Amino acid sequence: MSRSLLLRALAGETLDTPPIWLMRQAGRYLPEYRELRARAGSFVDLCLSPELAAEVTLQPIRRFGFDGAILFSDILMVPYGLGRPLRFEEGRGPILEPVVDRAGIPAYDADAFHKVLAPIYETVSRVRAALAPETALIGFAGAPWTVASYMVEGGSSRDFAALKLWAWRDPEGFGALMDVLVDATVGYLDRQVRAGAQVVKLFDSWAGAAPETQFERWVVQPTATIVRRLREIHPDLPVIGFARGAGAQTRGYGAATGVTALALDSGIPLAMACALQAERPVQGNLDPIALVAGGDALTSEVDRILEAMAGGPFVFNLGHGIVPHTPPEHVAALVARVRG
Ligand code: CP3
Repeated sequence: MSRSLLLRALAGETLDTPPIWLMRQAGRYLPEYRELRARAGSFVDLCLSPELAAEVTLQPIRRFGFDGAILFSDILMVPYGLGRPLRFEEGRGPILEPVVDRAGIPAYDADAFHKVLAPIYETVSRVRAALAPETALIGFAGAPWTVASYMVEGGSSRDFAALKLWAWRDPEGFGALMDVLVDATVGYLDRQVRAGAQVVKLFDSWAGAAPETQFERWVVQPTATIVRRLREIHPDLPVIGFARGAGAQTRGYGAATGVTALALDSGIPLAMACALQAERPVQGNLDPIALVAGGDALTSEVDRILEAMAGGPFVFNLGHGIVPHTPPEHVAALVARVRG
């Protein structure tokens, strides 16, 4: 059987041509996504429709032949599965009813949770059945700190004041919310793996918002617990950790969490990426705006990354998600350059 390039790179192999996939590779920059999105109803409805979510997951694979397909869903489906109301508003992003104190923390009732999210597991198995064997299927969840940020702030935030105030003033109460999220995330990712996900990624998009003194407790420890518990069930599962904005703390995050590979944002200098690569596979870290720019700017940024990362296990990706105004032709040019 031809083992997928993505799985080989995550297993530590240095490849002549690195595998490539992109964060937010399914989404608004694709006309076929916009067309389907317009007739799908709400974004939550789309995430809970196995037929449509599977189709959206496959759209970028058909167009660009990426080495990995990432499940089409959202990190906020975990709070939704815990019974928290969730909606997405055009131009405003996600809106949740904020959890403000210990009394408002939802319980993790595994049966109820999996019942709500069962359509997502169904999407995973449909996608796996439709993919060629060489295309790896990536499942994902938000890491607890980032998911808690949306639950506590009630949506996106500029300064994370409510989140940080709770964590500082009442660490035990906040810890109770984090414990619920750890349990739910382990259950959620276990189900995705059993349905056919071969890799999982933990998105800690707001890791960089954790104050230095809080990083270990609220970013590193919950992630380490999730990784350890998943490995008890699935010993060989590759886990990609994305502690966006963690900067100089990235190395310690990798070592202490035991993630298989580190996804790096565009703020990580390539010299540092190289040093990290000596310890575990790395993924990243093209600036998403270079992909919007295209042309010589894109080519030189891509070549610089390919050259710097050629000496070890590497997965080509962006440093953050594709932005909606990215021309699809630039994505095709990127894939050709990486494979060329
Ligand atoms: O990467 C993929 O193609 C798979 C699908 C995916 C989505 N969101 C689809 C989505 C994944 C992996 C995510 C992760 C996610 N969601 C993160 C972590 C990664 C990151 O970007 O930092 C975060 C923080 C979220 C929360 C979220 N979802 C926000 C803040 C928003 C609104 C901003 C926006 O881009 O609209 C979303 C909505 C969302 N999730 C969209 C998509 C395609 C756009 C909604 C739409 O199409 O109407």
